[in-house]
Amino acid sequence: MTLRSAILGAPGAGKGTQAQRVCERLHLAHLSTGDLLRSAVAAGTAAGKQAKSHMDAGRLVPDDVVFRVLFERLDRSTGGFLLDGFPRNRAQAEELDRRLASQRVALDVVVDIEVPDSRLAARLTGRRSCGSCGRSFHLEFFPPAVADVCDDCGGALKHRADDTLAVVGQRLAVYHEQTAPLVDYYERAGILVRVDGDQDVERVTAEVLDALQNDVPERA
Ligand code: AP5
Repeated sequence: MTLRSAILGAPGAGKGTQAQRVCERLHLAHLSTGDLLRSAVAAGTAAGKQAKSHMDAGRLVPDDVVFRVLFERLDRSTGGFLLDGFPRNRAQAEELDRRLASQRVALDVVVDIEVPDSRLAARLTGRRSCGSCGRSFHLEFFPPAVADVCDDCGGALKHRADDTLAVVGQRLAVYHEQTAPLVDYYERAGILVRVDGDQDVERVTAEVLDALQNDVPERA
């Protein structure tokens, strides 16, 4: 079966960490709008120039910019996929539904990784991400074997510009206002599975794999 899936959760909930782990195991394309937008910024494309100031301030990038960057990539994807960081609001969820319906398919399952807000700031301010392969580490919870060096590819680890306390507060506010209501949207569609993200990484991975492989609910 070709699995079409998405992972939801607040900033720092562990979406990127889990998506990378389960996509390797299940041979899914990992489509992260955050990573696609950061690549566009680094490459200096038109989309990247439009996105940068929004990302630096912790606001959502305008939908038309995100659609251009994501759907260009999604249209090239032939197998299963896991969307990470998309959709982020109701308009994005409805556009995704329309795009998939035009190909006579639909999302099969959406996993919501749930972590209390009180845990998130520490996760984000301590995060270090590989500039080459994108893998996430944490200074305290998930340190690399050698300081500032990626265990996987040897790339240099960086502190993301939007992982400061001030911007994290804004990102959380945007999440609660615009993205959290999608949990209800997908619950009503009958394709939502909730996973407790406030456990060790391995345990969360096991539950996300379970959700993607065995726990696809009945579509409403
Ligand atoms: P994006 O890159 O998507 O950021 P985000 O949603 O804020 O999520 P993060 O990447 O910060 O967190 P994560 O959940 O992936 O956590 P991670 O696994 O790294 O978006 C960035 C910006 O781009 C947005 O603000 C917006 O401007 C723009 N954007 C992106 N998509 C958009 C869209 N669709 N529409 C409009 N704008 C968009 O983990 C975090 C840390 O915790 C790491 O250090 C990790 O090692 C650690 N950790 C992970 N799991 C655990 C665990 N179980 N226990 C302890 N530590 C853990």
